[in-house]
Amino acid sequence: MERMNSQNQNNLMEKIISLCKRRGFIFPSSEIYGGFGSSYDFGPLGVGMESNIKSLWWEEMTKNHDNIFGIDAAILMSPKVWRASGHLSAGFADELVECKSCHHRYKKDTLSKNACPLCGGKLTKPRQFNLMMKTFVGPVEDRASTTYLRAETCQGIYINFENVLNSMRAKIPFGIVQIGKAFRNEITPGNFIFRTREFDQMELEWFCQPSEANRYFDYWLNERLKWYKQLGIKKENIKVAEIPKKERAHYARRQVDIEYHFPFGWQELEGIHNRGDWDLSNHSKYSGNDLRYLDQKINKRYYPYIIETSVGVGRLFLALLCNAYQEIKGGRTKTTKSVKEEEIVLKLNKKVAPIKVAVFPLIKKDKKLVKIARDIYKDLKGKFVAYYDEVDSIGRRYRRQDEIGTPYCITVDFDTLKDKKVTIRDRNTMQQERVKIDQLVDVLKDKLK
Ligand code: GAP
Repeated sequence: MERMNSQNQNNLMEKIISLCKRRGFIFPSSEIYGGFGSSYDFGPLGVGMESNIKSLWWEEMTKNHDNIFGIDAAILMSPKVWRASGHLSAGFADELVECKSCHHRYKKDTLSKNACPLCGGKLTKPRQFNLMMKTFVGPVEDRASTTYLRAETCQGIYINFENVLNSMRAKIPFGIVQIGKAFRNEITPGNFIFRTREFDQMELEWFCQPSEANRYFDYWLNERLKWYKQLGIKKENIKVAEIPKKERAHYARRQVDIEYHFPFGWQELEGIHNRGDWDLSNHSKYSGNDLRYLDQKINKRYYPYIIETSVGVGRLFLALLCNAYQEIKGGRTKTTKSVKEEEIVLKLNKKVAPIKVAVFPLIKKDKKLVKIARDIYKDLKGKFVAYYDEVDSIGRRYRRQDEIGTPYCITVDFDTLKDKKVTIRDRNTMQQERVKIDQLVDVLKDKLK
C-alpha cells in the first residue's frame, strides 16, 4: 500500500476531526467558553457508536468466553487503594521539564533534544509529576478528606476480588471485566481523543495459577487480535510490540502493546499485561485482608497471577474511524453529473455503525411515497437504529449516509406502488436489490448479523 506523506496524514486527522464535529460524532467540550484542554463531548452519532463499541466488547468477553463476570465499581475509592497499587509513588509519574524562557512544559521522554522545541530555550531539570487527579470528599479540603479520581478501572476489580469469588462461587481460572471512566492528569494530552485526561477503559483481569500465566498471556493476546480482525481493522494497520523491562508499567512482569497505525504514527491501542501477584499481594499487605486463593485441588493458598487486557474506548473509536475513512475524488457514481464532488465513505463495521438503516421516499412531493416510507421507518425504528430523510436529491441523501457509515439505505420509488417492493442499497458496493416490504425486517436482520 502506498504510504501517505506526513502532510496527508495531518490532513487526514483534520478531516476526521471536522467530520466528527460536522456530523455529530464528537464536539470539543465547553466550546462556547473557548474549549477546555483536550476534553471532548460525544454527540448523537458518537454516543451511538461509543455504546456499540462498549457492548461489542462486553459481549465478546462475557458471552464468547467462559467464567467471566462483570462489575461496575465506584470511581471514588479509599485513597489507601492508590497507596497499595503504587500509583501515588514514582511508578505513576512522568518527568516534567519546563522551558526557562517561554515556560512551556513538556514530558521529558517526548523530547529528542535538551532544548525547548518552540523557542530553543534552556530547560529546567526534570521533576516528577504524578498523574493522579486529586479531589476532596466532604466539606473540608484537608489531607484527611483527600482522595483521587481513579487512574485505571482495574483497581475496583482487585478490591472486589473476594466479593466476586464468593458471591459467584468462582474457581480459578476466571475473569472480571469492567467498563468505566478513568482520569489522568496528562502533561501532554493531544491528537484529538487519542490522549485525554478523562477517558473510558474496558478492562479484563484474568486470575490464574502462577504457572499458567505465560500460557494465558499468549491466549489473551491472540483473542484480542482476533477481535480486532472481526471488527474490520486492516491487517496493515495493527501490530504488536513487546515492551522492554525498563519501559514497562511498574506492575508489569511482561507487557505487550497492541499498536494501531494512526495518522500520527504507530501508537498503543491496547495493553496486555502480566501483573503477577503485584496487586493482590499489595492489597493484602495494605488492607490486612488475606486475598490469597485457596486452591482446593492442591490444598494450597496462593496469590493468583493476573493477566490484564486494557483498551481505551476513545482510542479504539479513533482507530475505527481512521480505519474506515475513505475519500473518493470525483465521487463513486459515474452515471450522473453530481459525480464531480469529493465523496466520503465511512466503511465502518456494521455492528459499530451508529445508524443501521436510512429510509427515503424517492421524492418529497409525492404523498403516497412519503406515507409508505414513513410507515416503513416507523416499523424499522423499533428494531434497528433507523433514520428518515426526505430532503434534497436521492444522491445527496445516499452520500450523507455514506459519510456517517450507515450500511443500508432503503428507497421507496414509483415501482413500489405497483410491486410493493423497495430498493436496499449497500454502502460499500452501492449495489441495489429489490425486496418485498413485508420481508424487509428479515432481510435486514440477516444482513446486519
Ligand atoms: N490497567 C492498566 C492500564 O491502565 P495503560 O497502558 O496505562 O494500562 C490502558 O492504559 C489503555 O487505556 C491504553 O492502551 C489506552 O487505550 C487507554 N489509555 C490510557 N491512557 C489514556 C489517555 N490518557 N487517554 C485515552 N486513553 C488512554
